[in-house]
Amino acid sequence: MERAVPFRYEGDTFWLLDQRKLPFEEVWVPCRTAAEAAAGIRDMVVRGAPAIGVTAAYGMVLAHLSGEDHAEADRVLRQSRPTAVNLFYALDRMKPHWGRLEATLSEARAVWDEVEQTEQAISRHGAAVLKGQVLTHCNTGPLATGGYGTALGAIVEAYRQGRVTHVWVDETRPYLQGARLTAYELHKAGVPATLITDNMAAYLMGKGQVDAVILGTDRMATNGDFANKIGTYGLAVLCHYHGIPFYPALPLSSVDPRLSSGKDIPIEERSALEVTTVRGVAIAPEGFPAAHPAFDVTPHHLITGIVTEHGVLYPPFDESLPQALARSAGRQASVADGR
Ligand code: MRU
Repeated sequence: MERAVPFRYEGDTFWLLDQRKLPFEEVWVPCRTAAEAAAGIRDMVVRGAPAIGVTAAYGMVLAHLSGEDHAEADRVLRQSRPTAVNLFYALDRMKPHWGRLEATLSEARAVWDEVEQTEQAISRHGAAVLKGQVLTHCNTGPLATGGYGTALGAIVEAYRQGRVTHVWVDETRPYLQGARLTAYELHKAGVPATLITDNMAAYLMGKGQVDAVILGTDRMATNGDFANKIGTYGLAVLCHYHGIPFYPALPLSSVDPRLSSGKDIPIEERSALEVTTVRGVAIAPEGFPAAHPAFDVTPHHLITGIVTEHGVLYPPFDESLPQALARSAGRQASVADGR
C-alpha cells in the first residue's frame, strides 16, 4: 500500500506536510525551531494524536539545535493543543534527555519508531474484529500518525485480508478530515469507500449497511471514557441503539494514566469561523454565532472493545486497561534493560 508521510527530518529541519492544503496541494513547511513546530501543531499543519506527539518530540530536537531555552520550548509545545495526550506523553519522554543532542535525537526517533511498531499490531488486532461494511470518522491513517494508522490501519489490513468490503467515510464537519484526508488515503490504498455527510450514519445503520464503526482516540481515561473528534459520541449512541459493534483504536500512549474518568479531559474550543465558512467561503450570515468544540467524550459503556497494540480489550475496562498498561510498562522496562 502506498503510504502518505506527514513529516520528515533532514539536517536541522523538521518538515511538515501541510495537511490544511490536502488533497488539493502538497506543500511542505520547514520547522527549524521548537516555536515553529508548536505553530505547526497549533495551526493544524500537522494533526492527529500520534503525529502531534512525534512533532513535539522533534520540536525538542530543534530547540537544542537552534539554542532555544529548553524549558520555554517545552512550555510552548505543551500549549500548542490541549486534548491529545500524545503531545504530553512525547514531551515527558524527551525531558530526561534535554541538553544532550545525541540522546534527544535518539529519543525522538524512538517515539516515531514506537508509532510504527504499535500501529502494525493495532492494524492486525483491529482487522480481526472487522468484517463487511465499516464506518469511520475523522482521519486516523498515516497522515494522522506517521506510521500505518490506527483505525484506518486496521480497516486497510482487514480489506487486504478480504474481511472488509467497503468503507463509509464520515466527512467530519467542520474541519473535513474525513472528506479531505481519509478519502485521499483510502483512494491511495485502493480500498472501496464512499463519502457521506455526518448526518447520514443513522440512515445507513437503519438499513443494515454498517457492520461496525472503528475510529481513533485523542485521550482515553483508565475507565475507557475517551475523547475523539466531535461527532464520535453521536456515532457511539447510534451504534448502541442499532446493536452495531463500536471500537476505538489507539496506542496505549493515548491513555492518560492520571485520569480515571473522561470528565476531566480538556476539550479544545476552536474558532467559530471554521464552522461558518468552508475553505474561506461563508455559509452563514456574517458574524452569526457558532459553537466549535473540536472533540467530544464517549462514555466507556458504549464501547464494544478497545483495539490496542496489546490486543482488543473488553469490559470491564477499568480492569482490562490498567492490566494492559502494566503489561506495556513491563515490556518497555525489559527492552530498556536489554532483557
Ligand atoms: O483535530 P485533529 O484532526 O487532530 O483530530 C484527530 C482525531 O480526532 C483523530 O481521530 C485522533 O487524533 C486519532 S489519530 C490516530
